[in-house]
Amino acid sequence: MVLNGPNLGRLGLREPEVYGTATHGELAALCRATGTAAGLDVDVRQSDSEAELIGWLHEAAAGGLPVVLNPAALTHYSYAVRDAVAMATAPVIEVHLSNPGARESFRHVSVVTPVVTATIAGLGFGSYRHALLAIAELTR
Ligand code: DQA
Repeated sequence: MVLNGPNLGRLGLREPEVYGTATHGELAALCRATGTAAGLDVDVRQSDSEAELIGWLHEAAAGGLPVVLNPAALTHYSYAVRDAVAMATAPVIEVHLSNPGARESFRHVSVVTPVVTATIAGLGFGSYRHALLAIAELTR
């Protein structure tokens, strides 16, 4: 699963100087194509709702499915998302389009990082591509 949190559905319109001009649909297509080439069946989902994201993390844990997770702003304060990630039964890779460590100080903390397998940030859509290739390797 590739799970994207709040406001990522607005990619292309949202702060293009930070997040680029490509849309969430284009990101989903890139993830599916990367997955196909790497032998993964990729399911891309986006929600602005913390509860829905947590439900999807429960579903991944129950199914033993690896996750590429961009919790968006929830990264910085959601202990509920962190606790759901901590239940994972397969690798979870945290991704960010931008490099939060190089931005405002409130973005320097990720409450999710301590419970994920790895974090990839600052590479735009490349963060997702590298995360999917890592999952293919980890699950081979
Ligand atoms: C983000 C970084 C977060 O700080 C921000 O709230 C987002 C996107 C990223 O992908 O760069 O919504 O997760």
